[in-house]
Amino acid sequence: MDNVTTAIGTPNMALIKYWGKRDTKLILPMNSSVSMTLDEQLNTKTSVVFSKKFEEDRVYINGALQDLANSEIGERLVVLNILREIANVNVKALVVSENSFPTASGLASSASGLATLVYSASKALGLELSAKELSIVARRGSGSACRSVMGGIVKWTRGVKVDGSDSYAEQVAEPGHWPELRDVVVIFTESRKKISSRAGMKQTVQNGILYKSRLDYVEGAVNRLVNAVKKKDFETLGEITMRDSMNMHATMLDTWPPIMYLDDNSKDAIYRVQELNQSEGKIVAAYTFDAGSNANIITLSKYVGKVRKTFEGRDSVKSILELKMGGGPRLLREKESLIDKRRMVPLGAD
Ligand code: PMV
Repeated sequence: MDNVTTAIGTPNMALIKYWGKRDTKLILPMNSSVSMTLDEQLNTKTSVVFSKKFEEDRVYINGALQDLANSEIGERLVVLNILREIANVNVKALVVSENSFPTASGLASSASGLATLVYSASKALGLELSAKELSIVARRGSGSACRSVMGGIVKWTRGVKVDGSDSYAEQVAEPGHWPELRDVVVIFTESRKKISSRAGMKQTVQNGILYKSRLDYVEGAVNRLVNAVKKKDFETLGEITMRDSMNMHATMLDTWPPIMYLDDNSKDAIYRVQELNQSEGKIVAAYTFDAGSNANIITLSKYVGKVRKTFEGRDSVKSILELKMGGGPRLLREKESLIDKRRMVPLGAD
């Protein structure tokens, strides 16, 4: 106890999306999904300390103390209780977390935040959990977070057991397997999304008509994508990625009332990528969209220049990032801590 740990972790970009839960408490998904863990250009840094001196859990995100009783963040902190149970301790925590990118704007901040919290807190408690165990805990905070506790290409298997013990993430390929793979993130907006993924997927499961056919197709697509990754077959990966993004957004359009995260900028991005692929005579770039309008263009290093040229200089484009695959969360040194160890408060607090 009283051991301050600081970790850095990153978002992941789903190539086959998780959309819909079969158990909302345990966060068990309706379908398996596959993602690419991103490098540290977009990151979350989280310092954690557990101490008998604390009377309650306190969580600061980007400098603001969170109201844990009345917020979605409070629900997500079930991960701290699970870790305390595993460690068999009952001590409260101070958590100080900073995102290098906007929260809830479709840039997977919850995945990055929860995966880094679980990693950092497990170390602060002196636990040595396997990647599989970490993913099962992170899943309880945010489904997609279970894929960010490890690097490279990651598959989250849906599982069938009611206790969720077979619903966890596994690495399909290390970042070094396909170092040329890139995610070019085209940011149109940094504002918060209108409807959370949690609420959006709940509604889709409840009353979507097309949603049922998504479930028929998706497990086969996951297997084909995993094979494409193993063979480094970009064209197959690209087609599966684009089709799955469109399929997920189609299931949302079809719910009542309809949910639309894609806007005119997203649609324009789809056409531009299509034109680029047509002019190259093959798939060299693949668009994918999470619960937001920002575009993620999956491509290979040799085509990044062409993808950038497609978007650069346009009024709608706020910024463009070129991300590689990342290695998953890791510990940082003591001097990078966000907690003042002597006073046990966030660094820089009065
Ligand atoms: O884990 P959540 O609740 O943030 O949901 C993530 C849903 C998508 O980002 C749209 C898809 C995915 O698999 O990451």
